[in-house]
Amino acid sequence: MDNHIIELKVNGEGYEVSVDSYRTLLEVLREDLGLTGSKEGCGMGACGACAVLLDNVVVLACLTLALSVEGKEITTVEGLAKGEELSPLQQSFIDHGAVQCGFCTPGMLISSTALLMKNFHPDEHQIQMALSGNLCRCTGYVKIVEAVKAASEH
Ligand code: FES
Ligand code: FES
Repeated sequence: MDNHIIELKVNGEGYEVSVDSYRTLLEVLREDLGLTGSKEGCGMGACGACAVLLDNVVVLACLTLALSVEGKEITTVEGLAKGEELSPLQQSFIDHGAVQCGFCTPGMLISSTALLMKNFHPDEHQIQMALSGNLCRCTGYVKIVEAVKAASEH
């Protein structure tokens, strides 16, 4: 058994976990840490539902081995709110009807959070580009883009 004890830093908290070398970050987040906000859509890098931030850069947790991220700062959708207080982006998604079934929402929020960290006032095209790796089956994307735009205007 190829098992390792590693330290993961997730949403500002340290976790010691025992992982097999083939396990993905998505599996460890969901199954070991109980952080089920990140979703498994395709499991093969095509849908963006599993997106998380790794040192503030978007990565797909379904394609990332847990062993490879020891010591890095991981942020999941659970880490975007401050306690009961939603982030401005989260609130904007609700206010603009950008959430329907919600399956894509964690990934959309992670990708748009990363965008607004480096571009405070993106235009519509820049938002579309930032979200181009995130698939949504429900909304038609218009409301999602509107929500990100509105959040950037505050
Ligand atoms: S579940 Fe990771 S990209 Fe689809
Ligand atoms: S809200 Fe259902 S997949 Fe996007």
